[in-house]
Amino acid sequence: MSLPRNIKEQFPLLSQVVNNHQIVYLDSAASSQKPAAVIEAMNDYYRTINANVHRGAYEIAAQATEAMESARSRIAKFIGASSANEVVFTKNATESFNLVARSWGGQHLSQGDAVLITDMEHHANIVPWQILSAERGFEIRWIPLTVDGHLDLTELDQLLDGVKMVSLTAMSNVLGTLNPVRKIADKAHEMGALVTVDASQYVPHLPTDVQDLGADLMCFTGHKMCGPTGIGVLWGREEILDSMPPFLGGGEMILDVRKDGFTANELPHKFEAGTPPIAEIIGLGAAVNFLESLGMAEIRQHEIRLTEYAMNSLADRYGEDLRIHGPKNPSERGGVLSIEYRDVHPHDLSQVLDQRGICIRAGHHCAKPLMKELGVGATARASLYVYNDESDIDALIDALEPAGEMFAL
Ligand code: ALA
Repeated sequence: MSLPRNIKEQFPLLSQVVNNHQIVYLDSAASSQKPAAVIEAMNDYYRTINANVHRGAYEIAAQATEAMESARSRIAKFIGASSANEVVFTKNATESFNLVARSWGGQHLSQGDAVLITDMEHHANIVPWQILSAERGFEIRWIPLTVDGHLDLTELDQLLDGVKMVSLTAMSNVLGTLNPVRKIADKAHEMGALVTVDASQYVPHLPTDVQDLGADLMCFTGHKMCGPTGIGVLWGREEILDSMPPFLGGGEMILDVRKDGFTANELPHKFEAGTPPIAEIIGLGAAVNFLESLGMAEIRQHEIRLTEYAMNSLADRYGEDLRIHGPKNPSERGGVLSIEYRDVHPHDLSQVLDQRGICIRAGHHCAKPLMKELGVGATARASLYVYNDESDIDALIDALEPAGEMFAL
């Protein structure tokens, strides 16, 4: 089965005309577009049941609480969590990582310990560890890359020696590489370490089961999976989350507050201080419904086919003038195409493409250590999602030629 041919019609923004061209949206790794169903679910909340949750005893407050908690349950099921208590809502994946580093790391990491990350991490999975390491003096180690953009695991045993946490991306936001998370997690567990997975680029694109991944904790964000901005998730095995101290303090996260201290709330509320982003949580629940209606296996197949089409067509048209970073085999990667094209600067490229209504991202993609490994300052990145088709790839390919003529040295 494939995705519906008229799927673009479900995304109101995709009918926009930009710079006199029908928009071609190729920046879903930065943020995906939102289907009408998600926008309507959020509007409905504000129009019909807007009230604070877990507090009011009146009808619409009860309905708001029910809508939010049912979204939590659907999200839990979507990622194979054992219970909804394992799903903690945060502002974004970055906040989820900060929660893990501060709460788990603050309890377990000190001088003599080590955290193992990789050369392809997003800053969200680097800087929180660096901030904590500056305070507590533990070591941060890095799994290097092979020339074809995979993780080089030849020294994994040595790298894991003395490591308490392995924190790695399941799919690179620059290279598209799908990492062997399960294999690394099994090894890490054997050596006594826990595993945190950055699934921001994974959950939106592949069927996800936290048990299969072998993760202990997992961070992802809502806005890359057809949901709204302002909502992220930290999933964790219940006993691990239970053992972690609160991250932010305030209302909602307590059972009791006295002059001499407080008693933290049960999971998941222990980590959800203050009024939660209720509309965004409901929107994310609607996004999960939408993705499930398409089928995650179908979404993955669609993206493999389209990535293959893009890689082959770009190679046929531009040959040696164009290079795509990361694995060559579409089944080993996601639909993230970081391009180097002749000597055109990525920012110039993206500006010329914008004149034709084509949206790509140029820059370091919040992965500066990776840029350094690749020997570039920036890349031009086209990234695919459920609503893209061959016509979007063809528009990109046609627009590269004039860009090359305008800017090539
Ligand atoms: N992390 C997002 C990206 O890769 C913003 O573009």
